[in-house]
Amino acid sequence: MKKSISALFIAAALIFSATTVFAASGSSLFSSEGCIACHAINGQGGSVGPDLSHVGSKRSLSWLKTQITNPGAHFAAGTTANINGQSYQAIMPGHRHMAASKLNALASYLKSLK
Ligand code: HEC
Repeated sequence: MKKSISALFIAAALIFSATTVFAASGSSLFSSEGCIACHAINGQGGSVGPDLSHVGSKRSLSWLKTQITNPGAHFAAGTTANINGQSYQAIMPGHRHMAASKLNALASYLKSLK
């Protein structure tokens, strides 16, 4: 009985640290992939594109992945996109060749922003 309880604690600790690392790498990708030049999160970043501080509360994980790889699927290039009550020229570059592991980490990070 005692043994299974400590095993449970170890499992919980592992899951916790794995999620923390996962989230950290998504936020560093947001800088290293250049998103931050156009998008702000919690007051940090550019304003060419919409603020993403709460994007996870309105977009699904799969929507976010599509936006990163192929934004034209949502907003035709060159048209005006109305997002959060503001108008943006749809100029976001597609990141078609982003490795799946990076795409998953970045999209999961955005999904966590509520
Ligand atoms: C050159 C500027 C630019 C860069 C770089 C850029 N974006 Fe965008 N992004 C935009 C613009 C402008 C829009 C508005 C719609 C469009 O262009 O598709 C947008 C829209 C979005 C949206 C939809 C927001 C909403 O509220 O629905 C998400 C999510 C997003 N971008 C994520 C990213 C991520 C992640 C990266 C980095 C991999 C990135 N963007 C890189 C300019 C940019």
